[in-house]
Amino acid sequence: MKNNQSERKKSSIPFRINRKSFLGVMSLVFQELIERIFTKFKIKIPKEEEVLNLVRLKANTCDPDSVLEIIDNYAYKKTFLMNIGDEKGQLLENAIVDSKANNILELGVYLGYSTIRILKNLDNTSKLTSIESNKKFADIAIEHINISGLSKNHKLIIGKSNEVIPNLDEKYDFIFIDHWKELYLKDLKSLEENNLIKNNAWIFADNVILFNLEDYLEYVRSSSKYISKFIPTKREYSKSHPDGVEISIYKDEI
Ligand SMILES: C[S@@+](CC[C@H](N)C(=O)[O-])C[C@H]1O[C@@H](n2cnc3c(N)ncnc32)[C@H](O)[C@@H]1O
Repeated sequence: MKNNQSERKKSSIPFRINRKSFLGVMSLVFQELIERIFTKFKIKIPKEEEVLNLVRLKANTCDPDSVLEIIDNYAYKKTFLMNIGDEKGQLLENAIVDSKANNILELGVYLGYSTIRILKNLDNTSKLTSIESNKKFADIAIEHINISGLSKNHKLIIGKSNEVIPNLDEKYDFIFIDHWKELYLKDLKSLEENNLIKNNAWIFADNVILFNLEDYLEYVRSSSKYISKFIPTKREYSKSHPDGVEISIYKDEI
């Protein structure tokens, strides 16, 4: 295995933003600050609770697409939400179907948007385990998944990925990585070391361009354990900011 890249320097910032998206992302950070001030002083409820209220009010029960549409509309028309979004979400769904995966692991759930996109493509013999560190987000996600009628094949573990992964005890054939950007590579290596990745498993990583995840990309593209492919996209809910997903197939037996 080639692994000669230097580890990125520790920083309190969990990512480095792509230059072409810098101003756009700064405007989202500013929006987020205003949101936090408003919710702290109870001028408004958090946007995530607003979304849940809309889903409770407007979604059709057991209709995942109606839940996804409400969440997308909110993110396009009202305030940014850090879901994978519709363009990359469709790529994720295609990958789930094409991989024929039946034991899937998801790192980073937020409001359950990508979770719903994965679950709606599973049959009765397949299952998804998701890890989310924020209990408030996890509770909202669980309600979105229940309303979608998709909770049967799903387990959500509340905790930090780096603490949860060493305690997992089954092998996965599809891993969706979309959590703390600084942890993508560390958690992938931890999954390998803990023998949790099946031969030919698909590793689908979001936001690899938006956040300049060079060390992650260098690893999966140079390691003989992976056959890796990049798909260019736009950032979620944007028509202009570049982003992309990296899909890497794990070759355990080389
Ligand atoms: C980009 S959002 C996930 C979006 C979701 N995959 C979707 O497309 O709908 C990232 C999420 O990862 C969670 N997170 C951050 N660090 C984490 C960690 N170490 N372990 C688990 N979850 C984490 C955050 O709380 C946040 O909800």
